[in-house]
Amino acid sequence: MDAEEEINYFIEMVASKIDDEFLRYDDYHPAILGRESGKKLYALLLKEEPDVIVETGVCNGFSTSVILKALDRNQRGRLYSVDLPVTIDQVEDEDRTGAVIPPDKTSGWVVPEELKGRWTLMEGDTYYELPKIFQGLSREIDIFIHDSGHSYETMMFEFSLAWRHLKEDGFLLADNIDHSDAFPDFVRAKEVDAYRLGQMGLFKKKNRLG
Ligand SMILES: C[S@@+](CC[C@H](N)C(=O)[O-])C[C@H]1O[C@@H](n2cnc3c(N)ncnc32)[C@H](O)[C@@H]1O
Repeated sequence: MDAEEEINYFIEMVASKIDDEFLRYDDYHPAILGRESGKKLYALLLKEEPDVIVETGVCNGFSTSVILKALDRNQRGRLYSVDLPVTIDQVEDEDRTGAVIPPDKTSGWVVPEELKGRWTLMEGDTYYELPKIFQGLSREIDIFIHDSGHSYETMMFEFSLAWRHLKEDGFLLADNIDHSDAFPDFVRAKEVDAYRLGQMGLFKKKNRLG
């Protein structure tokens, strides 16, 4: 199997496992990163061969599985993830039907056991856990991926903190950049060029403003 066939097969396997699990919960959906974004993210990680990735928003573990699969293929790198999961039985707001996990599961339940060796999961609110991750790292990070809460405040909080710990030429990626003006506002303030990678927004850090 070549690299493309291997990742297509893997992504289908992971996404189908999540879909099958949610067949029991009619009104709820897992809000995964998505197959196309997953494939593009995987390709980027194979090309960049990052040593340190930080992501927020694990939920059922689709994006986490894809990232860890790329690190495994590269035989290099570590992923630090933050997630405050919401299980279906905890949902109080009847409008909230997405970004949930089944009642009997934990964050990243779909991540294959054999890929977990390169993974550190911090369970808790990004406002507490993300600063702790950066404090614990003795080096700048190569890639930051936002997919937790998509309010303007949370996105800005994560982007600002990640920017300070991201190496020059490192990548910041964010899903659901249309949910608020945070991504375009941040891009404008930092004077970087933004692109799309699948459904995600992406830019490379250039510290033009010092
Ligand atoms: C859109 S889902 C992540 C989907 C995941 N990236 C995937 O591809 O399957 C967002 C996750 O972020 C979590 N989350 C939301 N707000 C958060 C916060 N303030 N701190 C930590 N996690 C949060 C949600 O509970 C959920 O588990």
